Amino acid sequence: MITTAGREENFNYRLWRYDGAPGELIPLLQSAQDHFGYVPRKAINYIAGVTGVPESEVYGVITFYSQFRLQPMGKYVIRACDGTACHVSGSRMIIDTIEDELGIEVGGTTEDGIFTLNTVACIGCCSLAPVIMINDETHGQLTPASVRKLLRELRRREKAAGQKAAAG
Ligand code: FES
Repeated sequence: MITTAGREENFNYRLWRYDGAPGELIPLLQSAQDHFGYVPRKAINYIAGVTGVPESEVYGVITFYSQFRLQPMGKYVIRACDGTACHVSGSRMIIDTIEDELGIEVGGTTEDGIFTLNTVACIGCCSLAPVIMINDETHGQLTPASVRKLLRELRRREKAAGQKAAAG
């Protein structure tokens, strides 16, 4: 596991190596994303300042590569499998249901910061298709109804925890 100090070292090292080649921006942005979980404004600002690349260009690189995020991930990161086995078992319907239930599209995060939805090619449990992962937990043989139930349960839990925290 990479420690915070290790990540910072990595970032500083990349910055030190930076020689103005456009490709070098990518590892820098990658380091920032590893550190924060996304590329925050302050990192863009910092990278632009140190490298001399205009902020608009740094933004351009971020939006060009889908691996970069400008927003933090939600508390629950959903990875909906859209690999072959899941696809033939109706993963599209599952993904559509999640988008509808959460009011976001693939790649998005709910406004309350609770859910992020991504898709993946195969999680490795094809026999349970269609499958999603929520953080480290696998949920298989889903139907639109069961996935809605699952998401509502998590929402309910989060709400209850929030109320408890507010009351306590
Ligand atoms: S295709 Fe979905 S788990 Fe393999």
